[in-house]
Amino acid sequence: MTYEELIAEAKKARLHAYTPYSHFQVGAALLTSGGKLYHGCNIENAAYGPTNCAERTAFFKAVYEGERSFSKIAIVGGPEGQEADEMCAPCGVCRQVMREFCSPEEFEIVLADGAGGYKVFKLEELLPCSFGPENLGK
Ligand code: THU
Repeated sequence: MTYEELIAEAKKARLHAYTPYSHFQVGAALLTSGGKLYHGCNIENAAYGPTNCAERTAFFKAVYEGERSFSKIAIVGGPEGQEADEMCAPCGVCRQVMREFCSPEEFEIVLADGAGGYKVFKLEELLPCSFGPENLGK
């Protein structure tokens, strides 16, 4: 799957966002090493803290289904009702969730805007000097 195709899937996922509080809608499309696709959106909560980001929604769906190995994720986010005018980078919690299941040197994070622009980062670029399962001997 090309970066452009993965970004198109993240844009579709964004339409499912539940965002009555921030009105900031994020979509993610996560590709497994075996080529399966999982979509995620942000899901907000009246108590704010329980809000789940789009990236974690995609990861948790996939992990529930038995997936443990991933190749890349595309993320698109911006204010409700309009195309994303800027790239939306994953929050620190989502980066750490990626670190649990993904190789820092290989896993790719594709940040896209709504006008066809995108940038590709390796996980280690967005989460340098990280703590992961190997630090616990796993
Ligand atoms: N959000 C995501 O879903 N992913 C990100 O990468 C950044 C932030 C969500 C959380 C919240 O629902 C809204 O965007 C505003 O922070």
